[in-house]
Amino acid sequence: MKVITTKNEMKALSDSFHQRDEHIAFVPTMGNLHPGHMQLVEKAETLAPKTIASIFVNPLQFGQNEDLDSYPRTMERDQQLLELGDVDILFSPTREEIYPDETSNKEVIEFPGLSDVLCGASRPGHFSGVAVVVKHLFETVQPDVAVFGEKDYQQVLVIKKLVQEYKLPVEIVTVPTQRETDGLAMSSRNGYLSEQERQTAPLLYQTLCQARDQVKAKAGCFSAIEQQASEVLTKAGFKPDYFSIRHADDLSEPNEGETRLVILAAAWLGKPRLIDNILI
Ligand code: PAF
Repeated sequence: MKVITTKNEMKALSDSFHQRDEHIAFVPTMGNLHPGHMQLVEKAETLAPKTIASIFVNPLQFGQNEDLDSYPRTMERDQQLLELGDVDILFSPTREEIYPDETSNKEVIEFPGLSDVLCGASRPGHFSGVAVVVKHLFETVQPDVAVFGEKDYQQVLVIKKLVQEYKLPVEIVTVPTQRETDGLAMSSRNGYLSEQERQTAPLLYQTLCQARDQVKAKAGCFSAIEQQASEVLTKAGFKPDYFSIRHADDLSEPNEGETRLVILAAAWLGKPRLIDNILI
């Protein structure tokens, strides 16, 4: 696996692949890789002859009181995993390489109604930071296809919108959320859970499954189902941020009777804020 740290070198290599008509599948990450990331890599490998992964802990998507400084940086281990996973190229730029000056640090890309609701409401600027870095990465790596996990459902919709609005020639492919055996969605932030919190954590997904079953059985209006689920989580020790039934395509608030739905939840459990979702 070749490791590249500069945009110029990355672009030149991608140019050479395109000249030879070798398509590129791309998996952007912030490192601290877990089996969920490796599923994205596996998917990428089925989509194109060249697989590129990136590791860049993007400061623009962290709020002031969030865990940018303590976010686990595990480059050596990540590199070994990607190597074992047969990735062709790892792009791991420095902060200065992606954001060379004050102006590049201040770029904002918002999609009102999509990037400022749910996680976007609780983490102002987060999805703008994601959109800005993904645009930089796509322009540098020039992938034909990029692979993202469905656990970050809202992020996927923001990235699809980014691709559409900026006419970026990249196909977005998603991979179902990878779960531990007890149902907890795999996440880099699960490592922050204490032993006891780790026992409680799968309740988030169980509550989503229950709410899905209630929606399907029409056992109550959406707001009553949401409220009941939040109460279950609170009783178990979570601090719910939101538990929300939304339109699956654009996260707008659905009318009762709507069928293309997704249920999304975010809740603190001790230090980490866990997110998960379920499609109906
Ligand atoms: O999902 C992530 O790990 C990040 O948000 C991403 C897409 C790599 C952008 O920094």
